[in-house]
Amino acid sequence: VINVMASLAVEERIQGLWASYGETVPEDALALDAIMDSLRRHTGLDVREYRRASVARRILNRMITLSVPTYALYAELIEFSEQEAMELLGRVSIKVSEFYRNPDVFDELRSELLPRLAIASDGRLVRVWSAGCARGEEAWTLAMLLHEAGINGVVEATDIDATALSCAKRGRYSASAMQSLPAALRQRYVTTSTHEATIPVDSSLRAIVRFSVHDLLADVSPPGDGAFDLICCRNVLIFFQRSAQERIFHRLTRSLAESGMLCVGEAEWPAPSVPLRTLSSRSRVFQRGDVEGGS
Ligand SMILES: C[S@@+](CC[C@H](N)C(=O)[O-])C[C@H]1O[C@@H](n2cnc3c(N)ncnc32)[C@H](O)[C@@H]1O
Repeated sequence: VINVMASLAVEERIQGLWASYGETVPEDALALDAIMDSLRRHTGLDVREYRRASVARRILNRMITLSVPTYALYAELIEFSEQEAMELLGRVSIKVSEFYRNPDVFDELRSELLPRLAIASDGRLVRVWSAGCARGEEAWTLAMLLHEAGINGVVEATDIDATALSCAKRGRYSASAMQSLPAALRQRYVTTSTHEATIPVDSSLRAIVRFSVHDLLADVSPPGDGAFDLICCRNVLIFFQRSAQERIFHRLTRSLAESGMLCVGEAEWPAPSVPLRTLSSRSRVFQRGDVEGGS
């Protein structure tokens, strides 16, 4: 009984703390730095360039689950626990995704941009990069669109999280995950079976997609050294601080082929210094070219 009461008291205190934090998390800068160091040491994920307030909030969520009342105590807990670091990794790097996410964007790629690319490429190999592909939903969607458009293409799909990539490679998903695909794509590339809990993506797509680990924040070459006709880097940059976003925008732009396209997420904007011009503001697609507004 005493234990239960004690843990309720801690819980109440934490809930009280949490309520008083509201949107702004009070920083214990030293403890936060120590937690980030431990995370990097155990998992390789370096979150120093991620938005600090959002990392702190996710750590706090984890502390609430564990009833740990201060960052300093959590720093002690994670210092020697690889298992805890792996738990935190899962919370800090968000892998929410879906097939054909934001249908308007993929509709435009499917009906306008890729058919145009099919004509321009005239049978040569078209190179696509799905950067920050999570569990592969975006990469397989792109493979469907290339295949459907009759494009001879390859999709390099990368993420920092090796566990997410293993799921991506397996290429099996629940029926509900594939629900947002247009009916024509579902009929052509998804075989439904009532006997299985998960559905494999069609084998015709397997030769198109290649998965590999890649850290967008690290100064390393993109897969195959670049010259991409299309890069989709959607809902990833939003997690980084502005300075890191700008650096990655420049790097992604350098990885584009001459008139290659870069498609980013709804809330992601290149800084004015990035040599991109807007191709579709509705779908957040840019093309390598002059700096916007420049002469
Ligand atoms: C919200 S998901 C986006 C998935 C997909 N692009 C989409 O729009 O649905 C963000 C992904 O970015 C990955 N990520 C986070 N930091 C990264 C980094 N430094 N380098 C590469 N990928 C990273 C995460 O592991 C996660 O899978």
